[in-house]
Amino acid sequence: MSGCVKNTAGPDAAPADEGNTQPLKILILGGTGFIGPHMVREALRRGHEVTLFNRGRTNRTLFPDLELLVGDRDNNLDALRGRKWDAVVDNSGYVPRHVADSATLLSTAVSHYIFVSTVGVYAAMSGNLTAADYHDVDMPNTEYDSPLVTMPDETVEEVVTETYGPLKVLCERAATEAMGEDRITILRPTWVAGPGDNSDRFTYWPVRVARGGEMLVPGTSADLIQIVDVRDLANFVVDSLEKNITGIYNMVTPPGSYAMGEFMADCQAVTASDASLTWADLSFIEANGVYAAGELPIWAPMSGDTRSDAIVNGDRSFSKGMQTRPIKETIRDTLTWWETLPEDRRDKLRAGLSAERETELLVAWHKQND
Ligand SMILES: NC(=O)c1ccc[n+]([C@@H]2O[C@H](COP(=O)([O-])OP(=O)(O)OC[C@H]3O[C@@H](n4cnc5c(N)ncnc54)[C@H](OP(=O)(O)O)[C@@H]3O)[C@@H](O)[C@H]2O)c1
Repeated sequence: MSGCVKNTAGPDAAPADEGNTQPLKILILGGTGFIGPHMVREALRRGHEVTLFNRGRTNRTLFPDLELLVGDRDNNLDALRGRKWDAVVDNSGYVPRHVADSATLLSTAVSHYIFVSTVGVYAAMSGNLTAADYHDVDMPNTEYDSPLVTMPDETVEEVVTETYGPLKVLCERAATEAMGEDRITILRPTWVAGPGDNSDRFTYWPVRVARGGEMLVPGTSADLIQIVDVRDLANFVVDSLEKNITGIYNMVTPPGSYAMGEFMADCQAVTASDASLTWADLSFIEANGVYAAGELPIWAPMSGDTRSDAIVNGDRSFSKGMQTRPIKETIRDTLTWWETLPEDRRDKLRAGLSAERETELLVAWHKQND
């Protein structure tokens, strides 16, 4: 990725990057949470100019040198009026009305709109396909043309687990209608992982392995997982801006390339931990409501209505140059970031099993199996 650097190599050099070589003026809606700052840093690193728009609540002092336009996706877009940028990255759109408002307003102010969506738009990912549906829709993997999730009442604006995916479908539609298909990029990330993740969903695993001792792990070592490193996502965002990549792209590590066994081995290698893994089979996990309660993030049963959750096709993104780094690197850098957090933040992980709950499950597992 050459970014803003002009290719001055001689005739035998590799073909020049066809991307934009001029600095771009980029507006980022939601640049101060988890994913946004990585996009901001990557855009700045490549010489672009960034303006932020958000409510001024999250990490307000993170980028003191950048222009911050304060407003609210919900009915206060005044700070955006009368301005022009080359492109906008909509990283905080959860409600279709908000996305329609900003995309309509910005359709004459920018030439390119990137909307950050989610793989949760696929019906199978949102648990919106029943076992019966699977007989009609033969879809062992989640493909670009897999059915999208729907919601019975499209006027609902409350963002909860059940509405998150279907609302994103409507957000994608609203942004596309306002901008037109040739000026929009829709990115659908799976679990985003890496430094700065305030959810601890990926972080739980390396931190738990680092703690050592007997550790409960769900399913089998062959169960597939997929993530996307936040820096790989940010790179693709800036590539899309520079090369005017439009269309719909799943943001995932290559499907089938990584399983829970490798994940745990990589966590053990990075942390030099003596953790001993106790693999609790699916029937135990289900009988104890562990998956249903979302107690073990990143992993999902490779059967029933989650069977294709970790087999999401990323070919279209890879064909446009999307790179995914080794997950070992994500593990290492996430832990390095984690260690910088204050002790009271690290005291209690926001995802995963608590020590008490894990002990309770391990006792039950041994009682049943020893
Ligand atoms: N994290 C994941 O694993 C994941 C996976 C798939 C897709 N995604 C998508 O990625 C995007 C970013 O996720 P994230 O985890 O980085 O989010 P985040 O950490 O919650 O950051 C949200 C950003 O949006 C701003 N914001 C929130 N509500 C706003 C409002 N009403 N008006 C204006 N600005 C507002 C926040 O700043 P203020 O609070 O100052 O307003 C902050 O800058 C989302 O669209 C999400 O659906 C995330």
